[in-house]
Amino acid sequence: MSALFSRNVAALTPSATLAVSAEAARLRREGVNVVDLGAGEPDFPTPRAVAEAGVHATQAGKTKYAANEGILELRAAIARRLSLLSGGRPVNADNIVVSNGAKQSVMNACFCLFGGREKVLIPSPAWTSYPQIVHLARATPVEVAGDAEWSLKVSVRDLEREWDESVKGLIMNSPSNPTGAVYTLAELKAIAEWAKRKGVWIVADEIYRRIHYGDGVAPSFLDLPDELLEHVVLVDGASKAYAMTGWRIGFALASRELAKTMAALQSHTTSGANTMAQWAAAEAFGNDLVQPEVEAMTAQFRKRRDYLVGRFRKELPGVEFVEPLGAFYLFFRVDDVFSPHVPGATEFCRRLIADEALALVPGAAFGDDRWVRLSYAASDEMLKEGVDRLVREFARLKAEKQDVGTQRVG
Ligand SMILES: Cc1ncc(COP(=O)(O)O)c(C=O)c1O
Repeated sequence: MSALFSRNVAALTPSATLAVSAEAARLRREGVNVVDLGAGEPDFPTPRAVAEAGVHATQAGKTKYAANEGILELRAAIARRLSLLSGGRPVNADNIVVSNGAKQSVMNACFCLFGGREKVLIPSPAWTSYPQIVHLARATPVEVAGDAEWSLKVSVRDLEREWDESVKGLIMNSPSNPTGAVYTLAELKAIAEWAKRKGVWIVADEIYRRIHYGDGVAPSFLDLPDELLEHVVLVDGASKAYAMTGWRIGFALASRELAKTMAALQSHTTSGANTMAQWAAAEAFGNDLVQPEVEAMTAQFRKRRDYLVGRFRKELPGVEFVEPLGAFYLFFRVDDVFSPHVPGATEFCRRLIADEALALVPGAAFGDDRWVRLSYAASDEMLKEGVDRLVREFARLKAEKQDVGTQRVG
């Protein structure tokens, strides 16, 4: 950012994932038949009952400011849903702060917990906004490289390697964006025990928890005993599970004191989340009849994942990818086709959009430019067409690489 601006934004860069979507939209406006597998949002509509609850709230005049921490009806519905998803453990609505999307909850938590000279560990690859948010809090993000042999997840050993006295936080994200990897409960427990021993706060972003291809919802920090949760902030929301990205409703669950502090921070930045959207989200989390729709969407994602994995194994046999167990992303490696003309995944994706009008997100957005993220939150036809184009591009770049090699030898 410009030197004219404040040090607050010295490290700020625009969201790389949104940049890809913007380029795809631009080409589409020009009439190009673009296949966009870049976007990180469900392609399904918001469940009807939920959308109607938003309309009813609007028509009923529930259009005034809402409480900073969120309306009690929504917080109570979230508390009940979290409790049901976590084997009936008690969850108190007073510990919940509703925000403008989960992103704001990550921001609220980081801003309230971390600051100057403190370090925050971020398992990498990671969602593009975490390092930016940590910078905005004037703390220092420290990437902890995930283990390629282990779905790019981190272990206590990896965290220990990066730890020093100035480490104050750790941002966990399971199921993961961009990898689709899911931590087991035993892995979460080991990390929570380590964090407790070290006095490290955990911000646990579980926005994809419901989109899980194993049994039930993905393992959560909420499945751990109370004594491991004192310094854990759980972040989740309506965006992914209920296909409500545009409604902008997220939440954090934290100790009472931290919840109050985050609400106070929010009261001076954005105030409470959109009131009508909160009523819609209360229907989403609260109405038991809406939950089968979440399961139906997850079943669709699972079908698409199986399709993709099947085609990758068959048609791109040398291409390494993370076994996707949750979320709706396939993260695969492209460094096999790197050449002097295509030295990284950013250029790979640029070529892909230029040659095949296929939009994917380069791993640079997540901290490792040897990889590419494909979102399968897209229709079956889009997905089929997308893989066709990708297979063609791999063949093209392989041939180019061989040509360069041959010329060199010659
Ligand atoms: C890991 C992760 N956390 C948070 C968010 C943001 O969620 P929301 O749209 O509710 O702010 C996203 C959205 O892409 C995400 O992938």
